[in-house]
Amino acid sequence: MIEYRNHRVAILGGGSVGSQVAHLLISQGEELAARAGAGLEVVGIAVRNLDAKRDTDLPADLFTTDAEALILGADIVVELIGGIEPARTYILQALNSGADVITANKAVLATHGPELFEAAEQVGAQLYYEAAVGGAIPIIRPLRDSLAGDRVSRILGIVNGTTNFILDRMDTEGDSLEDALAEATRLGYAEADPTADVEGYDAAQKAAILASLAFHTTVPLGAVYREGMTSVTHEQVVAARKAGYVVKLLAICERVTDADGLEGVAARVHPALVPLGHPLAAVHGANNAVFVEAEAAGSLMFYGAGAGGIQTASAVLGDLVSAARRHVAGGPGVAESTHANLPVLPMSSVTTRYQITLTVLDEPGVLATIATMFSDRGVSVEGVSQSVRDGGDNERPTATLVIITHEASESALAATVEDLSSTSVVSAVVSVLRVEGL
Ligand code: NDP
Ligand code: HSE
Repeated sequence: MIEYRNHRVAILGGGSVGSQVAHLLISQGEELAARAGAGLEVVGIAVRNLDAKRDTDLPADLFTTDAEALILGADIVVELIGGIEPARTYILQALNSGADVITANKAVLATHGPELFEAAEQVGAQLYYEAAVGGAIPIIRPLRDSLAGDRVSRILGIVNGTTNFILDRMDTEGDSLEDALAEATRLGYAEADPTADVEGYDAAQKAAILASLAFHTTVPLGAVYREGMTSVTHEQVVAARKAGYVVKLLAICERVTDADGLEGVAARVHPALVPLGHPLAAVHGANNAVFVEAEAAGSLMFYGAGAGGIQTASAVLGDLVSAARRHVAGGPGVAESTHANLPVLPMSSVTTRYQITLTVLDEPGVLATIATMFSDRGVSVEGVSQSVRDGGDNERPTATLVIITHEASESALAATVEDLSSTSVVSAVVSVLRVEGL
């Protein structure tokens, strides 16, 4: 039997992910050692409350509340506590002591990433975070390593399982948002405070991480435009399918050029219409998918379980094996690449296509009036469909108009919608949705 040098692994957090990481490390220790070229010994699991009831057969003597002592005695620290503090402090302590750190914590990376990467670089350690975006899906390593020779132009991601589950249920089962969210919570997909899911905060954190990595530029969380999905109605979901789309909460990271010709990057999270033929439209339930457009590689899609204790543990273990291999090979960790340092541009510099649904008076000249409003704002209309003639005998007849635009800027579209809202021929602006992936 080969004798491997043991690496002491401290696990901070023994919840859904932490307990599964510990369990797999213990039960598959020999196989992992053979792959890593080094033993990976769990020296302890830090938790908040030693008396908490745990659904696990892990040895009780591994658990401790003394995270700091655990960190000081470790070669590799796995942070699976979540949130900002004390996770940030523990990660810094671990890196400053020379340990490599593995984290699944999107919140701390999106808010303190530069500080943490800098601390790692200072001591030649490495910070790994494959599990922070897309759970089990390998997306960080492909962006950092496999696509390092390419130029990523755009990422369209379904990176929040809870909201995909809700929108999918609204579409396929006719569930209400509230019922679908209750089910997502019951199944353990949602965050402790599901506002983070439904209002897009979780997806925005993931967008900041993906954009920073893909464009070799620090993209701060505050620069990510965010709209949640709580305003999406059952009617919109039904109308979308009739028109050949599905509604998804997307995280979009892309290279953009603003009206003055300044080239930069932008990141945004919002509900969007995705054509039924696009691969992202086939992402059901709580699954995640990241669709990457790169100049040489073309389109690539990474798909799978975006959450779940054991699924996320798979990504953490991949990072653990990488860290151990690096220790065996020697040499400093790979620093985060931010060399491009591109300007991070606001939402107003983004251009995309839109679907605008209006209730209008069904009378001669109305269509021409509306078309003029679009053209006056420089928004080009790609298609118009008119459906159901509503209204009773005593009312002026109305119709529903669904207008799809060519690419237009956010500001031009907003101005057009304002014009439409104030004209007498439009009874209501029923919905405005961005269309992505055409
Ligand atoms: P849990 O809430 O299930 O577990 C958190 C663990 O951290 C618990 O064991 C808790 O202790 C411990 N803990 C909390 N505060 C402290 C503290 N101050 N000191 C020591 N230990 C503490 O979280 P998850 O396992 O679900 O998530 C862990 C990380 O993984 C998060 O960053 C999350 O965003 C990320 N992630 C999770 C996914 C999932 O599907 N669950 C998917 C992708 C990423 P105690 O048990 O005593 O309460
Ligand atoms: N609440 C998150 C989701 C968990 O629904 O995707 C994974 O980050």
